[in-house]
Amino acid sequence: MPGFNTTAIHAGQEPEKLTGAVTVPIYQSTTYAQQELGEHVKYDYGRTINPTREAWETSLAALENGIAGFAFSSGMSAIAAAMSIIGPGDHVIAGNDMYGGTYRYFSKILEPLGVKFSYVDMRNPANVQNAIKDNTRLIYCETPTNPMMNLTDLGAIAKIAREEGLITVVDNTFMSPYLQNPLDFGIEIVVHSATKYLGGHSDVIGGALVTSKQEHAEKIKFYQNSYGAVPSPFDCWLLLRSVKTLGLRMRAHSDNAQVIAERLHSDPRVAKVFYPGLASHPQHELAKSQMKAFGGMISLETGSIDNAKKFTKTLRYFTLGESLGGVESLVCHPVTMTHGSVPEERRKELGITPGLVRLSVGVEDVEDLLEDIERGLEAL
Ligand SMILES: Cc1ncc(COP(=O)(O)O)c(C=O)c1O
Repeated sequence: MPGFNTTAIHAGQEPEKLTGAVTVPIYQSTTYAQQELGEHVKYDYGRTINPTREAWETSLAALENGIAGFAFSSGMSAIAAAMSIIGPGDHVIAGNDMYGGTYRYFSKILEPLGVKFSYVDMRNPANVQNAIKDNTRLIYCETPTNPMMNLTDLGAIAKIAREEGLITVVDNTFMSPYLQNPLDFGIEIVVHSATKYLGGHSDVIGGALVTSKQEHAEKIKFYQNSYGAVPSPFDCWLLLRSVKTLGLRMRAHSDNAQVIAERLHSDPRVAKVFYPGLASHPQHELAKSQMKAFGGMISLETGSIDNAKKFTKTLRYFTLGESLGGVESLVCHPVTMTHGSVPEERRKELGITPGLVRLSVGVEDVEDLLEDIERGLEAL
């Protein structure tokens, strides 16, 4: 088996047969000539299949060690594709701490359509076991969670699901396939917002889904073609280009974030730091066992909304903005930004306070980022 970086550069990205082009061409054509009635080569219509998207999907499957990969026009449409496997009356056990947009999709779209949800604290696998009902069909979680950086034991969840005959879906956006491969732990479906680390340069919206099961692959393929939320050939090309440096970028994100998390942790002006790479993180041992390194995402408690405002306003290299995973550092205020659609009560329960700030640590020189953080802390 080739290593990760070799796979990232070569899987799905062999030189093109006609010209030898070493980068996959952007096939803009929406339709393909057919030989005669009922007879055509593999390609017929661009929503169904496109050679540039096919290359990106081959790459995705290889990176997540799955049997099939699917590209979507956003992370949300990849999540919708995963959830299309179930239907009205089915029960889902989902993590109680997840991206606000996913919670919005579950609560405002799927629930009114008749899908039932139980939201549990996934840090303890027993909570999942105890939430199982006769109509439970699927377990859904993120690890680490956004923004509290709580972990789910992937092996433990996969084991429960196997014993109970449940489908498992993990949003691996925060880690990327370089740092964590949920399918290796027995999870059946992995989803990504490719907008984040897979894209890595804050210039493409995309989604990805990889599965280890033929049965799911067939349903997802049917849904992808029927629903039609596919990315453009140009976006697939951008993602193919980005993924070649995924390993290098994730190393740099993780190295920078580790240094910054340690600095924040040792600073008395910071009430709390949430980063799985810190020995003080309650699930640090689990993190070491299922993640290659700890990623670029850090949350910190500044104590109040006023402090959060001062901190975010003072930073120079951490741009205030939604999203994460780009080479440039970003800072976000979950309460007013990414988690605005999570009810206040639930936010309180989870610790998503008005003083909580989330950093997406980029790959700039760490000395400059530390100087920036120091400026932010001085403003508190
Ligand atoms: C963890 C996570 N999953 C899914 C999504 C949704 O992805 P997209 O914005 O590409 O639709 C996001 C977006 O921020 C996210 O952070």
